[in-house]
Amino acid sequence: MVRLAISLAFLAVAQGVTYASVPAKARDDSPAYLDSSLSPKERAADLLQRMTWEEKVGQLGGVRKTLGRTDGQATFNKTAFDLVHKTQNGQIGLGPQYNYAKDVLPVVNELRAEQLNSTRLGIPYVAITDSLNSMWVSGGTLFPGVVSMASSWNLGLYEQAVAAIRDENHALGVNWVLSPELDVAYDPRNGRNGEMFGEDTYLISEFGTRYVKTMQAKDENGFVKIATTIKHWVYGRSNGGVNRASMEGGINHILNDLAPPYIKIIKEAESLSLMVSYASVDRVPMSINKYMIKDVLRGILGFKGLIMSDANSIEYTMTESKVSKSREDAAQKALRAGLEHELSPGGTGFFPTLINLVNNTEIANLIDQSVAALLEIKFATGVFDNPLPSAETLESTLRNERHLEVNRNISQESIVLLKNDGILPLWRGNVSKIAVVGAYADMINAGMYAACNATDPAYGNSFRRSLAQELGDENVLYAKGVDALPSNDSSGIDAAVAAAREAGLAVVVLGSGYGTFDLSEMNNRRTDGEGFAHADLGFPGLQQQLLDAVLDTGVPIVLVMSSGQTFVLNESTMRSGAILHSWLSGEFTGDALVEILFGDVNPSGKLTVTMPQANGAFPVAYDYLASDDQGGFATATLYDWQWPQVTRCAPLRFGYGLSYTTFDISSPTASCSDNVTISTTVTNTGNVTGKEVVQLYYRPEYSVIEFPVMKLIRFSKVDLAAGESTAVSWTVPTSELGYYIDGDWNVDYGNYTFWVGSSSRTEDLQQLNVTLLG
Ligand SMILES: *[C@@H]1O[C@H](CO)[C@@H](O)[C@H](O)[C@H]1NC(C)=O
Ligand SMILES: *[C@@H]1O[C@H](CO)[C@@H](O)[C@H](O)[C@H]1NC(C)=O
Ligand SMILES: *[C@@H]1O[C@H](CO)[C@@H](O)[C@H](O)[C@H]1NC(C)=O
Ligand SMILES: *[C@@H]1O[C@H](CO)[C@@H](O)[C@H](O)[C@H]1NC(C)=O
Ligand SMILES: *[C@@H]1O[C@H](CO)[C@@H](O)[C@H](O)[C@H]1NC(C)=O
Ligand SMILES: *[C@@H]1O[C@H](CO)[C@@H](O)[C@H](O)[C@H]1NC(C)=O
Ligand SMILES: *[C@@H]1O[C@H](CO)[C@@H](O)[C@H](O)[C@H]1NC(C)=O
Ligand SMILES: *[C@@H]1O[C@H](CO)[C@@H](O)[C@H](O)[C@H]1NC(C)=O
Ligand SMILES: *[C@@H]1O[C@H](CO)[C@@H](O)[C@H](O)[C@H]1NC(C)=O
Ligand SMILES: *[C@@H]1O[C@H](CO)[C@@H](O)[C@H](O)[C@H]1NC(C)=O
Ligand SMILES: *[C@@H]1O[C@H](CO)[C@@H](O)[C@H](O)[C@H]1NC(C)=O
Ligand SMILES: *[C@@H]1O[C@H](CO)[C@@H](O)[C@H](O)[C@H]1NC(C)=O
Repeated sequence: MVRLAISLAFLAVAQGVTYASVPAKARDDSPAYLDSSLSPKERAADLLQRMTWEEKVGQLGGVRKTLGRTDGQATFNKTAFDLVHKTQNGQIGLGPQYNYAKDVLPVVNELRAEQLNSTRLGIPYVAITDSLNSMWVSGGTLFPGVVSMASSWNLGLYEQAVAAIRDENHALGVNWVLSPELDVAYDPRNGRNGEMFGEDTYLISEFGTRYVKTMQAKDENGFVKIATTIKHWVYGRSNGGVNRASMEGGINHILNDLAPPYIKIIKEAESLSLMVSYASVDRVPMSINKYMIKDVLRGILGFKGLIMSDANSIEYTMTESKVSKSREDAAQKALRAGLEHELSPGGTGFFPTLINLVNNTEIANLIDQSVAALLEIKFATGVFDNPLPSAETLESTLRNERHLEVNRNISQESIVLLKNDGILPLWRGNVSKIAVVGAYADMINAGMYAACNATDPAYGNSFRRSLAQELGDENVLYAKGVDALPSNDSSGIDAAVAAAREAGLAVVVLGSGYGTFDLSEMNNRRTDGEGFAHADLGFPGLQQQLLDAVLDTGVPIVLVMSSGQTFVLNESTMRSGAILHSWLSGEFTGDALVEILFGDVNPSGKLTVTMPQANGAFPVAYDYLASDDQGGFATATLYDWQWPQVTRCAPLRFGYGLSYTTFDISSPTASCSDNVTISTTVTNTGNVTGKEVVQLYYRPEYSVIEFPVMKLIRFSKVDLAAGESTAVSWTVPTSELGYYIDGDWNVDYGNYTFWVGSSSRTEDLQQLNVTLLG
């Protein structure tokens, strides 16, 4: 039962009264903004000129933490609400992840109804939330993490997953999400890589565009279901892996290495909003970076939607960067730089201080533009027009059969097989008992932005529980060994070794992460996620010691990694007979691992981030510049890094992943006019059905500025029965092969190399040369 304390009407909602329709039109003499046949822009313009100064300034922010949690129950947090809602009433956030959607719905409905019914102009809140691999409250379908779903390289399946996440959010009344994250997972130390698609901008563009198009699909009344927020404009290669780190500002770097996903989405999908990053770009924090926002984003890239701050990012210009001298100063700088909306999770924001500038025409005009931008989102998403969501629809939408099926399917394709000496798949006739070792074997390590209590079975089966369903509890010898989080307690290692010996086969699950934003104690001890950069890319705590001890028994070992990050796998680790990366779990990741172990599912995931070979051997991404591979003196050494000696090309590279079958990719052919068409035939040459991701890379022979040694430009995932073949053909407009020089697009004519294969590794690629005639 939700405790509410705003007005008597709230009780009615808590008891299940639903709003059949919002009586907007009945409310008045029919002003134009209530006419849903007009465009969002026209409606916003009409409403804007009816608003008072205070009403306008109020739209610049919102209430982020509407609900709290007391004694395990969702509660309306009146303290938090009253603190800000009079001066920040543009949007509304939901609060703690552990609250269940069914408890959140009546509170948010009530607040929205109250605004519709009882404020002068009836301007409702729009509900806003993060949404990566689930709703940001409990009770919905929990998909695997973003890096996990991207590892499927299956765009169609990802689209279905996003549609499910969208419909669950929509049923809860959410009309605006703070996703997708288009940042490039370039530095393995960054704790947020699990929220990202991977290290390649083409791959990010493809997944990001699908996210935006799917979320922003129209409902039956023609309204955008959920507005998206592309972010974080612009975040570089995270100096030191640190979340809010500064970056350099070279425009060729920004436009070619970071901006491509924004460029594609702006052209093809029109995300209704964008969030700036925490980064300082060339010493100017993005929240006040007029050049990057107005000249580059608005000017060169042509972004038209609303631009918002990141949480507290306006504040940091004063408190951390010290480039603003007061709250007022920070707010004005941000507004002048082009920020139109403020996200302030902790309470009072900075934009309310603009209230005093009523007589400043420049500020007043900027505020008018900003308010119009928000109102357009509200009109576009139907928050003035559509009925408030009902408890019935919520119930029938969350975790419906279709969502669960899509989730099972994408979970199966999200796992990457990195090594297999023949131990996998296991044959049921051969296996009676399995030792399951490691704390991460018994949790759902879903990432910080997922609604998930990692140890609560309500969120799905851990690998240990899934395996127990397969083999029977008595045949799963579980030994945690050591803690998931750093500790000095090695007392459990002996038991793990004994379990491995007894079973004769062990699956060791090691990881990093776990916990969420909510549990401060757990949060402070987590090892991956926002705000956690990795100084060491090994397994946190004593996990490696545990693995080494189990490997020393000589018992066959399958190593499973669980995290949003990549790990350095040292020589000891590589003794494992098979290695799988399961990334951030969804509720079916445990089941999918069991299905893969026994060969019921043939693994088909591929790395979207390269695994570094040593703690200091990065950047490691596959698409480096030729000059980044010149560590050694001419013939003196073949290595870029010494002690340990490591080359620029790590073997577990972008695009790599194994299968239980084998594929042949025929020698590719090319034809070219104003497009380049590359064709090949893929054959499943093994004995089992399997899926292969065929990848196309390219590089111009000569370019005006340096071009990466190769860049992904297309990929296709094919599903083939044993012995089956299929033709794969890609058409790439030559105009797409170019790059930016000082803000202008340039395409080189002349010779190009294309590569076709099953990963970005040289040994997995076939080369062909093509000449483009200008
Ligand atoms: C309610 O909000 C206040 C102010 O933000 C906060 O201090 C308090 O912890 C919250 N209470 C709950 C139960 O979340
Ligand atoms: C809002 O107004 C409608 C009709 O005017 C009414 O049915 C509904 O109960 C009201 N809701 C609240 C929360 O006042
Ligand atoms: C704005 O100008 C009006 C008219 O000149 C004046 O009455 C008012 O005090 C001014 N407000 C502020 C906040 O300066
Ligand atoms: C899930 O996968 C199964 C087996 O490949 C397939 O039959 C089914 O259609 C898929 N479901 C969805 C929703 O994609
Ligand atoms: C079964 O186990 C034996 C002994 O470990 C091994 O030689 C054989 O290859 C296994 N068979 C299968 C099908 O995995
Ligand atoms: C998480 O789940 C475990 C196991 O059910 C439970 O003991 C713990 O209290 C839960 N934590 C929260 C914050 O709900
Ligand atoms: C491990 O032990 C060392 C030395 O006693 C201590 O400094 C450190 O804090 C301990 N670490 C943990 C995670 O308990
Ligand atoms: C692997 O890493 C562990 C933990 O850092 C270390 O104890 C072990 O010696 C390493 N093994 C090799 C071969 O480097
Ligand atoms: C080149 O590709 C574009 C876009 O895919 C297509 O519209 C056009 O017809 C193609 N031109 C040729 C000559 O194939
Ligand atoms: C396929 O099965 C046959 C017969 O069992 C076997 O001889 C052959 O080696 C298998 N091929 C592959 C690629 O596994
Ligand atoms: C392209 O390659 C061909 C064959 O190697 C060569 O003859 C030709 O000179 C090259 N063209 C340019 C513009 O470099
Ligand atoms: C493609 O051209 C490069 C030189 O740019 C040459 O080294 C390579 O052998 C050529 N490959 C083929 C398949 O012709």
